Amino acid sequence: MPSHLSTHSRYWAVIPAAGVGSRMGAAVPKQYLMLSGKTVLEHTLSRIARHPLIHGVVVVIAPGDEFFQRLNLPRQKNVLLSLGGAERCHSVLNGLNTLAEHAADDDWVLVHDAARPCIRAEDITRLIEALRDHPAGGLLGLPVADTMKRSDREGNVIATVEREGLWRALTPQMFRLGVLRDALEAALSQGVLVTDEAQAVEAAGHAPRMVEGHGDNIKITRPQDLVLAQLYLQQQECA
Ligand code: C5P
Repeated sequence: MPSHLSTHSRYWAVIPAAGVGSRMGAAVPKQYLMLSGKTVLEHTLSRIARHPLIHGVVVVIAPGDEFFQRLNLPRQKNVLLSLGGAERCHSVLNGLNTLAEHAADDDWVLVHDAARPCIRAEDITRLIEALRDHPAGGLLGLPVADTMKRSDREGNVIATVEREGLWRALTPQMFRLGVLRDALEAALSQGVLVTDEAQAVEAAGHAPRMVEGHGDNIKITRPQDLVLAQLYLQQQECA
């Protein structure tokens, strides 16, 4: 049986949480800011670790991180720690290398930003089910709804970009562990600092599949995003 049809692969998650979040302008990295009574990372981690299809999770924290050990984490299944690097792609690769000590190259890994605490269990399930038999993997995304403009450095519009087929890339992004690790290593060895996993996998010649997710899966980037995330969490609880 081709390896991509193997029924024995397990599902793991890697959560890069080693950024400083400078655009938040806060003293604490954004994954440790409070949101509805818990840190952003606690929301994210519990949503990922609680998912019944996820076998274990690697959280990638910054060297010298003083915050993670202070979290009041409930006994979660298989939570491993790894140390981050200079850019998100270095952190993810470190997390994959930690995971490789416990997982098979054929296993699936879902990489999910610590800064996306509103991820819905149903979107994780949808991603896994949509990609179960896919040779490469794919990612959650949102079709672009607005008219898209390209500008020059001064902000003058130089083109209107056809939005047909344009997506915003979200996370989780789900690939075979071996495929993703090799793709990230190849990108980094060529000096390409990919901003998501799919970019590395695309450069390796694969065509990841887009799977439509929900727009409330926002990435906390600026202070106003915390307010929005709080509203989304409340709304999800009421649904
Ligand atoms: O900075 P940005 O919003 O793109 O970060 C996305 C995710 O990647 C965050 O969860 C952040 O903590 C993580 N990250 C990381 N290592 C870095 C930079 C970002 O784990 N060097």
